[in-house]
Order: sequence, then structure tokens, then C-alpha cells
Amino acid sequence: MPVCPSCKDARYLVEKNGERTVAKVCACNETCTVCGGSGHTFVEEKGYTFVRPCGCRSIARRVTLFNQARLPARAVGFTFETFTPETEEQNLAKGVAETTARRYRPDSPSKGLIVSGPVGTGKTHLLCAALRYLTLEVGVPSRYVEISFLFSEIKNGFQAGKSGLEAIAPLVDVEVLAIDEIGKGRGSGFELDTLDELIARRYNSGRTTLFATNLSLAAEAGKGGYVDPVVYEQRTQSLLRIKVGERIYSRLFEMCHAIEFPSNLKDHRKSDKASLAAK
Ligand SMILES: Nc1ncnc2c1ncn2[C@@H]1O[C@H](COP(=O)(O)OP(=O)(O)O)[C@@H](O)[C@H]1O
Ligand SMILES: [Mg+2]
Ligand SMILES: [Zn+2]
Ligand SMILES: [Zn+2]
Repeated sequence: MPVCPSCKDARYLVEKNGERTVAKVCACNETCTVCGGSGHTFVEEKGYTFVRPCGCRSIARRVTLFNQARLPARAVGFTFETFTPETEEQNLAKGVAETTARRYRPDSPSKGLIVSGPVGTGKTHLLCAALRYLTLEVGVPSRYVEISFLFSEIKNGFQAGKSGLEAIAPLVDVEVLAIDEIGKGRGSGFELDTLDELIARRYNSGRTTLFATNLSLAAEAGKGGYVDPVVYEQRTQSLLRIKVGERIYSRLFEMCHAIEFPSNLKDHRKSDKASLAAK
């Protein structure tokens, strides 16, 4: 039985606030039963007594890290526990996201993840669950960014007289970065060049990056014989490789485990709404 009914002894609470999901320290952390609020504990070892900082002190820092990750408001319930895989691919993606988060070591960052699939199949859910775990449970500085926000951040940077590099600096340096909806939108040459720079820098420094896309990862369009030119054109337009270019695309694959959900996977948002309406 948890002692604190509000946070179930997690010592933090996660809630919506405007456009973001935010975390705050639970009131129970102020009256820590482990250290009695002093912030330190005493550990006996080989007849000596050592003073150690209590776990309650790290909660404030982790809450700050979570808030700096800037998860959108709709991610408030996105955790690994609330994600139920319906296909082998979703199971695999969850496994990779969870392993990346749980086993994260700052001194040897692991390969990231690129997950591709139709709309409403839990891609954003998995990205956000990973960042939530990394910040709140492991204490790793992380950042979530949707591609169109990333582009507007670059643009705002330019307008404020910054170089492209200055504009993306916080995203280059953060330990774990999640880029959502990569391949979406037109992306001017300038924007794509800056994205290329961001990914190249993270690649060179070996930092962990997570990606989600609605576009297909399939390497070839029109594989296996004749394909109607119209169909070929449609397939080509839905390929991430075509949208982001060869350089970015090949780096993504070196940096990440790649998982593609089946194209006929149903949209969870629609079925969630349908089941709510039926109640
Ligand atoms: N396998 C799943 N288990 C639980 N919830 C899911 C799953 N797949 C999708 N959802 C839910 O469906 C909604 C849409 O998911 P989202 O991650 O935004 O989709 P995507 O980013 O793939 O378009 C969210 O509320 C999400 O929690
Ligand atoms: Mg999404
Ligand atoms: Zn509490
Ligand atoms: Zn304490």
C-alpha cells in the first residue's frame, strides 16, 4: 500500500498545464519519512557512519528536467505502463524505447530509435514515455520537439540575428533528443540544411536521438516488376528517404534501431473516440 495517495509514493505529480505536460514535486516529499526532511541520511559501513544525500533531494532536479523536456499537454498519460502493443512491431518498438530509457548510461549513450507508422498508432506515445522515464526516473536531460516547432525555432533564431547553429545549440547538446514527425511539412532548403547539421552533430557526438515519422522507411518504391507510374509517384512521396534526402536518411539508420508499423494498423484516436461514444 502506498503511503501517499496523491503520488503513490513517486514523490512527483504529472499534469496538464496549458500546452504542456508538467511535473511538480508532491507535498509528501517535503516531509520525507526517510530523512525526516533534513535532506541527508546516515549510512553505517564497517563501523563508520557516512552522511549521504537523501533521494528526496533529487526529486526537484528531476521534476525540472521533465519540465525542460517540454512534452505536449496530450502526453500527460503517455507512459510505458499505458502502452499496450497490438502488433509484433509495436511490441518491438516499446521494448527498444524502454531499454533505451532504463539502461541509459551518460558515459556510453546507446543507439536511438526511429519508429514509422500510420497516424494514431502510438509513436508519439512511445517517444514521450521514454523521455518521461529518462527525466523523472533516471535523471537524464532530455528534450522533445515536433518538427514544425523545430523549424519555427530555427526561423525565430534567424530573425533574432542568430546563426543556424546558435538556433539549434540547445538541441545539439541535450543528452537525449526526440524529434517527432520528421519528414512532415515542406521544409525550406535553409531549414533542411539546419536539420542536417543538427543530426550530423548529434551523430558525431554519439548522442541518443529518437525519431517518429508517418512516412515509410521502405528502401525501394515499386519493388518487384512493373509499377504504374502514378502508384510509383505516390509511393515515392510517402518515403522518408525522399523527403529528408539521402544524407539525413542514411545517418538516421546508423544512429537508430528502425521499426516500421504495418500500414494497415488502425488509428487509436478514432477507435478511442468510438469506444467513448459507445459508452
Ligand atoms: N498501443 C497503444 N496502447 C495504448 N494507447 C495507444 C496505443 N497506440 C496509440 N495509443 C493512444 O492513441 C492516441 C494516439 O497515439 P499517438 O502516439 O499520438 O499516435 P501517433 O504519434 O502514432 O500518431 C494516444 O492517446 C495514445 O495514447
Ligand atoms: Mg504523433
Ligand atoms: Zn506524494
Ligand atoms: Zn529525504
